[in-house]
Amino acid sequence: MDETHWLIEPANWRDLPALQRLERVCFDVDAWSLLDLAGVLSLPDYTHFKASIDGRLAGFVAAEQRREETKAWIITIGVFPEYRRLGIARALLNEIEARIHLPVVRLCVRRSNLAAQHLYESSGYRAIDIWRHYYHSGEDAQVYEKILHT
Ligand SMILES: CC(C)(COP(=O)(O)OP(=O)(O)OC[C@H]1O[C@@H](n2cnc3c(N)ncnc32)[C@H](O)[C@@H]1OP(=O)(O)O)[C@@H](O)C(=O)NCCC(=O)NCCS
Repeated sequence: MDETHWLIEPANWRDLPALQRLERVCFDVDAWSLLDLAGVLSLPDYTHFKASIDGRLAGFVAAEQRREETKAWIITIGVFPEYRRLGIARALLNEIEARIHLPVVRLCVRRSNLAAQHLYESSGYRAIDIWRHYYHSGEDAQVYEKILHT
């Protein structure tokens, strides 16, 4: 399947139920609540895009960029299992990076999550730090950074 088969656009409140399902499938105990998701969709510091195929939600990405900061954070990215390895996460990442006006973007990922680490490393991110015991399970987070604008 090539890129023309999915549509990337901002998500809206009608996507909330599907976004909550996606969060659960992707992040289990670390999934955001409906309230968290509603905040991401409505507050001005957040930028977000969904990917949909034939009107069905396939993936989602969100970033936080506060005007007074120098770094933006990608706070979630996920794709439903049936739509993985099609290039959707990379397309979502490209789309959100293009909307980040701050010079640097960071994100964190479980140390065991090699799929996501491959995605970030092949998209120009470099590992800069480890946050010990960051996740509920006690697992460490690997922090990645990409310089977007110099
Ligand atoms: C990580 C995730 C977002 C990737 O989504 P995706 O749409 O399948 O990714 P893409 O198809 O765009 O893949 C882009 C690159 O990522 C890497 N990648 C993706 N899945 C991979 C896997 N299972 N194993 C190894 N590398 C993988 C590859 O480098 C791939 O490029 P390639 O297909 O040309 O080899 C998806 O697996 C997911 O939703 N996982 C659960 C949620 C999650 O872990 N989110 C990240 C939290 S930090």
